Amino acid sequence: MSNLKGKTVVLGVTGSIAAYKAAIIASQAVQAGAEVHVVMTEAATHMVGPPIFAALTHRPVVTDFWETRGMADIAHVTLGRAADLVIIAPLSANTLAKLALGLADNELTALCLSTRAPLLLAPAMETGMWQHPATQDHLAALQSRGVHIVTPGGGYLASGASGVGRLAEPLVILDAARTVLGQRGDLAGRRLIVTSGGTREALDPVRYITNQSSGKMGLAIAEAARDRGAVVTFIHTTDLPTPYGATEVRVASAAELDQAVLDHLAAADALIMAAAPADFTPAQRAEHKIKKTADNTEGLTLHLARTRDILRDVADWRAAHETTRRRVVVGFAAETQNLLDNARAKLASKDLDLIVANPVPQTFGSDMVQATFLDRTGGITPLEPMPKEALAERILDEVTARLAPST
Ligand SMILES: Cc1cc2nc3c(=O)[nH]c(=O)nc-3n(C[C@H](O)[C@H](O)[C@H](O)COP(=O)(O)O)c2cc1C
Repeated sequence: MSNLKGKTVVLGVTGSIAAYKAAIIASQAVQAGAEVHVVMTEAATHMVGPPIFAALTHRPVVTDFWETRGMADIAHVTLGRAADLVIIAPLSANTLAKLALGLADNELTALCLSTRAPLLLAPAMETGMWQHPATQDHLAALQSRGVHIVTPGGGYLASGASGVGRLAEPLVILDAARTVLGQRGDLAGRRLIVTSGGTREALDPVRYITNQSSGKMGLAIAEAARDRGAVVTFIHTTDLPTPYGATEVRVASAAELDQAVLDHLAAADALIMAAAPADFTPAQRAEHKIKKTADNTEGLTLHLARTRDILRDVADWRAAHETTRRRVVVGFAAETQNLLDNARAKLASKDLDLIVANPVPQTFGSDMVQATFLDRTGGITPLEPMPKEALAERILDEVTARLAPST
């Protein structure tokens, strides 16, 4: 569940060729539960018709400074007050310049001046306009005032040329919106490490041993934590995208995961170990691809060695380094049998604050999960089956409740 739910979002659309992409942003934000009000500049209405936004948002579209539309109030003032967030996507060079100067000559620029909601700008223009010192100076001025920018990407431009200036992808802009909204969340400023995915233990340069963990649970936790304002370090093994705003650390093996977790622990307030590290790894990694030869016609025996116990290493680190401030550490137990007994033993032996017990293989790759929370006081909370996004929120509720007061 996204933090856009229940939020009032003003979506400004300006006269860029990319205006049609704003329809995707409007539609996705509505589907995420936001109340979306679209304000268009006159130039934008030449690019794409207001009815598309009215239909997608189920609300009238504000286009004209002078039209009262039968309303007794003044749109740029009332909408500006109601807004939790103002997004302008796409943002033209012209409106960008006006915002930097504090001009208020149309409904959108006036709203941006009157509102106290955070401003998220997604510029789109051809490369020369984008790189012009005037544009860059205006951008710097806006950034120095705390305005959030989703920088344009490179690629095909409407002119037929290829270069910088292309509107960021609509879903990236929505992720950026969630990040901005999260800055008022209950985890604002807290530093969380979230690990995710199954590790890959190399046999040779082309083969590895892994497990069925999809990384979906860790990703859901990282996204939810980001939405609640946490500064997230996402240490993961899969090809799933790192949530916008999170710091990505890609690892492959359990040894790399162990090292990455220990490297980031000192700066963290909490660690959520949703990754599924291997317990065993090939004792030796072959330098070259293992071939079928006359020596192995009967088969091949692999010798596996134990990997480091990451949560044990974390517990040892905490014992050595933590004095007054305790980090919150959440582990996962994925078992095919004796789930709760195994989870309870792991909770105690690894000095965890909470363990999330879930039966496998049902959980692997699934969007739904039926988990049980066990905590260090002996509390057991069986949860109903729920999507991984919902479980992520429940886990973060538990983390939030256990965090030391921020200093
Ligand atoms: C076909 C066409 C495409 C345009 N695309 C862009 C664009 O991508 N970015 C931009 O900054 N201006 C673009 N412009 C120029 C703006 O529409 C123009 O500067 C206008 O005054 C912007 O007004 P506004 O900022 O009030 O929306 C385009 C103009 C035309 C005719």
